[in-house]
Amino acid sequence: MNYPPEPFRIKMVEPIRLISPEERRKAIQAAGYNVFSLRAEDIFIDLLTDSGTGAMSDRQWSAMMQGDESYAGARSYFRLAEAVEKIFGFKQFVPTHQGRAAENILSAALVKPGQYVPSNMHFDTTDANIRARGGRPINLVIDEAGDPSSQHPFKGNMDIAKLKAFIGKVGAENIPFGMVTVTNNAGGGQPVSMANLKAIAETYHASGIPFYIDAARYAENCYFIKLREKGYADKSTLEIAREMFALADGFCMSAKKDAIVNIGGLLATKDEKVFQNIKNELILREGFPTYGGLAGRDLDAMAVGLFEGLDEAYLAYRLNQTAYLGERIRATGIAIVEPPGGHAIYLDAGALLPHIPHGEFPGQALAVELYLEGGIRGCEIGSIMFAHPDPETGEMVYPQLELVRLAIPRRTYTQSHMDYVAETLGKIAKRAASLRGCKFTYAPELLRHFTARFEPL
Ligand code: F0G
Repeated sequence: MNYPPEPFRIKMVEPIRLISPEERRKAIQAAGYNVFSLRAEDIFIDLLTDSGTGAMSDRQWSAMMQGDESYAGARSYFRLAEAVEKIFGFKQFVPTHQGRAAENILSAALVKPGQYVPSNMHFDTTDANIRARGGRPINLVIDEAGDPSSQHPFKGNMDIAKLKAFIGKVGAENIPFGMVTVTNNAGGGQPVSMANLKAIAETYHASGIPFYIDAARYAENCYFIKLREKGYADKSTLEIAREMFALADGFCMSAKKDAIVNIGGLLATKDEKVFQNIKNELILREGFPTYGGLAGRDLDAMAVGLFEGLDEAYLAYRLNQTAYLGERIRATGIAIVEPPGGHAIYLDAGALLPHIPHGEFPGQALAVELYLEGGIRGCEIGSIMFAHPDPETGEMVYPQLELVRLAIPRRTYTQSHMDYVAETLGKIAKRAASLRGCKFTYAPELLRHFTARFEPL
C-alpha cells in the first residue's frame, strides 16, 4: 500500500537524534532495562504512547492564547461544554487532568468493595482504579481478540452471551456500572461495532446497570464503523459519535488521544445524583468543576482538538499510516495483531520469541532490543502489565498475548520514520532466537510496568 500524504504541512520542528549503540547500551542499563525510565533525549523514535504526544494544530495553539484562567465559570469552560454537547450529547460533564483522574473519580463515586465492573477489556489504569476501590474489573471481549491472526473487523466487540451469563452469575446488584473501551487499546486498538454497542447497552440496561464508555479513541472507532459497518458509509463521523454516545449513561475519556491535546480528560454522566458526587470528589482531588485540574488554555485546546480528531481527512490519513507500518512490519516476518488497529501496531512478541516463557517477559525482551538496535521506544503489553495473582487461589494468571505496542503519536512522524522502524525490526527478526528474557529486581504491586526494574537473563 502507498503511504497516505499527510493532510497538513509542518510549521515547527523538534530535533531528534540517534545516539551511538554504546550510549544506548549504557542508557538502557541505567534505566534498569525499563524503557519508561529512559531519558527522552536518548530516544530516536518514541512510540511508547500516542497519549499526549501528538502535534497540536495552529488553531489549537491560537485557541490557547484565548484561555480564560478564571477560577470559576471561565469562558474556556463554556467553549469546551459546547464541543462536548455537540459531539457527545452530554450536558453534565467535568474536565479532569487526564483519563485516569476521570476513572478514579468514577470508581470513587460508584464502586464498592467486592463489586464487579465488566468491559470488553479495561485498560491498565481503569483496571487499577477499579481494583484500588476494592472492585473487580472483568474482561469479556469476543474470543477472536485472543487470536492475533483473526481478521474480524470488530475485534474489540464484547461477547454478549458471556456478558449475559456473567450478569446472571454475579447478580446485577453487584455491578455498579458496566463499561466498554473504544477502541480496545489493551486488545490491539481494535474497534467495537455499533451493532455491538447497541447490544451492550441493551444488555446492561435490561438489568438496570448504567453503561459507561471509555472513550479515549472514540473518533478512530467511529471512522472504523464508517469504513467497515453496513449502513454507516454515508454517515459523518460526528453523526456516528452522536449515535454511539446516545446509548451511554456516561463516559470517561483521556483527551490526550483523540482530542489531540497534551493533557486533559473528561467525565460525563446523565445521572444527576452521580454527577453531584462526581463534582464533590472532583473538588477534593482535581479542582473546581469548571476547570478540573487544567488551565483554561488546556480547555480551549481540547475544545478545538475534539473536532480536529473527528475530521475525516485526518482520520483516513491516521488509520492508513498505522496500516502502512503494519504492512511493512508484516513483510519482515514478524507477526502483528491483525488487522492493524487505529493508534498502534502490536507486535506478537510471544510468537517471535517462543523460547522465552511468560514469566521471563518476551515483550520486554523485544522492547529492550528495539531500543538497542534502533533507539526506538515501544511498550510491553503482556505479562509485566497484566499478570496478577488470582485473588482466590494466589496463583499467577498470565495474559493470553505477549505483545509490544508501537503507538503512533498523532501528526508527528513521517513515512521515513515508519520505514526506519520496520527496517530495524527486520534486523531483529533475523536474530530473534538469540534474544533472552529478563527478571524483576524490583516490582511495585499496582501498575508495575511503569517503575519496575529488571536484569537480563
Ligand atoms: N483508557 C484508555 C483506553 C487508555 O488508553 C488510557 C491511556 C486511559 C484510559 C487513561 O488515560 O493516560 O489520560 O490517564 N492510555 C495511554 C496509553 C497511557 O499509552 O495507551 P490517561
